[in-house]
Amino acid sequence: MKPYLRKRVLVTGCAGFLGSHLCERLLDAGHDVLGVDNFYTGSKDNLLHMLGNPHFELMRHDITFPLYVEVDEIFNLACPASPIYYQFDPVQTTKTSVHGAINMLGLAKRVKAKILQASTSEVYGDPEVHPQREDYWGRVNPIGIRSCYDEGKRCAETLFFDYRRQYGLKIKVVRIFNTFGPRMHPNDGRVVSNFIVQALKGEDITIYGDGSQTRSFCYVDDLIEALLRTMKTPDDFTGPVNIGNPAEFTMLELAERVIAITGSKSKLSFQPLPQDDPKQRRPDISLATQALGGWVPKIPLEDGLRKTISYFKNLMA
Ligand SMILES: NC(=O)c1ccc[n+]([C@@H]2O[C@H](COP(=O)([O-])OP(=O)(O)OC[C@H]3O[C@@H](n4cnc5c(N)ncnc54)[C@H](O)[C@@H]3O)[C@@H](O)[C@H]2O)c1
Repeated sequence: MKPYLRKRVLVTGCAGFLGSHLCERLLDAGHDVLGVDNFYTGSKDNLLHMLGNPHFELMRHDITFPLYVEVDEIFNLACPASPIYYQFDPVQTTKTSVHGAINMLGLAKRVKAKILQASTSEVYGDPEVHPQREDYWGRVNPIGIRSCYDEGKRCAETLFFDYRRQYGLKIKVVRIFNTFGPRMHPNDGRVVSNFIVQALKGEDITIYGDGSQTRSFCYVDDLIEALLRTMKTPDDFTGPVNIGNPAEFTMLELAERVIAITGSKSKLSFQPLPQDDPKQRRPDISLATQALGGWVPKIPLEDGLRKTISYFKNLMA
C-alpha cells in the first residue's frame, strides 16, 4: 500500500475471536495495526501468525486505563462477550465497557481519530418487537446478572453519542448479533461452540428450555466485512447499525444441523432456561444494507458451521 494511504489502526480486544479476524483483514488491506489486549478472554494463539508481520504490533494493556498512542482509527472491541466470562467479574465487565469507552473516546478526541464501538444486540434485552430495528429502545433488566454486559454496552453507546454531540467526534456504533466461526472459545458457553464441542466429544447436547427459542447466526467473515465498511462510511453516518444475519433458527434446528455435519451420536439434554435469556433475537439489517453499499451476509449457516467444526476438530486433536 502507498504510505499515504496506509492508516494506523488500533484494535482493542485484538486477541479475541472477532479482534483477531479484524487485525488479519486490516493487515491484508495494507494498514499498520496496533493490537491491544489484556488477555482476559483472548489468546496470543489467535495472533501467532501475525506476530512476525512488521506492520503488526501487540501491546498488553487494559483499556480501563488511559492509553497514549498516535492512531488514525480505533476499533473498540475489548470486552468479554460470553456470559460465563462477563459474569465471572461483573464489575470489571462494566468498567471495561464504561471506563474503556471513556478512555478510547478520550484518545480519539486527543488524536482526532475516527472510532468504532462494537456494541451488541444485547442492548435490546428481551425484546417486545421482532425483528429488532435500530430505533427500538430495548427492554433490559438493569439489575440482573446480565446487566453488567447489557447496561455497560448501553452506557458505552451513550458516551459515544455524547462525545459526538459535545466534541464533534467521528463515531460509528455497530450492534453485533450472534457471530460464530473459527477462534471462538471452545468452552465459553456460547451456543454454537457448546453444541459443536459436545457433538465432537459425543456428549449430550445441552438445550436450554424446550429449544424453541431462536437466534440468528452470522459467520465471522461477513461480520468483519461489515465492520470495515462501517468505518469507511461518511462522517455523518454514526449508526447505531445492526450487523448480523437475519436468517433465524431455533436451538433445536441448530443442534440437529451440528449433529448431522459432525455425524455425532450425541443426544439432546434439556435444562432450565437461564435468567433473562431472550426468547427471540433477529436483526433487521435494512439500514446496514442501505448504508454499507448493499452489504448482506453471504455465508449460509451450513457453510459457516462446516468451517467452524473443522477448526474445533483441529483444536481438539
Ligand atoms: N461474538 C459475538 O457474537 C458478539 C456479539 C455481540 C457483540 N460482540 C462484541 O464484540 C467484541 C468482541 O467479541 P468477541 O466475541 O471477539 O469476544 P472475545 O472475548 O473473544 O474478545 C474480547 C477481547 O477483549 C479482551 N479484553 C477484555 N477486557 C479487556 C480490557 N479491559 N482491556 C483490554 N482487553 C480486554 C479479551 O482478552 C479478548 O481478547 C466485544 O466487545 C463483544 O461485546 C460480540
